Amino acid sequence: MAEKTLDNLFYDTLKDIYYAERKIVKSLPKMARGANSADLKAAFEKHREETEGQIERLEQVFEIIGKRAMGKTCDAIEGILAEGDEILEEYAGTAALDAGLIAAAQAVEHYEITRYGTLKRWATLLGYEEAAALLDETLQQESVTDESLTALANAAANAEAQGASAA
Ligand SMILES: [Fe+2]
Ligand SMILES: [Fe+2]
Repeated sequence: MAEKTLDNLFYDTLKDIYYAERKIVKSLPKMARGANSADLKAAFEKHREETEGQIERLEQVFEIIGKRAMGKTCDAIEGILAEGDEILEEYAGTAALDAGLIAAAQAVEHYEITRYGTLKRWATLLGYEEAAALLDETLQQESVTDESLTALANAAANAEAQGASAA
C-alpha cells in the first residue's frame, strides 16, 4: 500500500465536506419550509444562499490544489441530517418544533466548524495560503450562523417549546 500523506488527508477531507455541503444545501429549504417562525425561516434561507457560495469556494480550493472537485460519502452528515428530518416529522405542528430544528441545525454547523477548522490548518501547513483564506472565510460564516441560531433559540424558540410543555 502506497504511503498516505497529509496531502491525501487534505484531499479526502475536502471531498467529505464537499459531499456534506451539497447535502446541506438541499436540506435547508426543507428546514425553512418546516420552521414555524418567520425569523427562523429567514435564517435558514440566508444560510442556503451562503452555502451555495461555500460550495463554490470549495471548488476553488480543489482548483488550487490541482485536483478534481468530487464528493465522498460522509456518513456523519447523513446521520445528522436524518435526525433533522426526524424532528421535522415528529414535531410538525407543535410549539417545540423550532427549538428542535435549531438544535438539529446547530449540530450541522458544529460538524462544519470542526471540518473547516481542520482543513484550514492543514492548508496552512501544506503551504496553500489562498486555500487557507477561502476555508477561513467559510469557517467564519459557519460560526456566525451557529451564533445566530443560539440567539434565535434564546429569543423565542426555547421559551415557546417550554411554554407548550407547561400548558
Ligand atoms: Fe456550510
Ligand atoms: Fe453551515
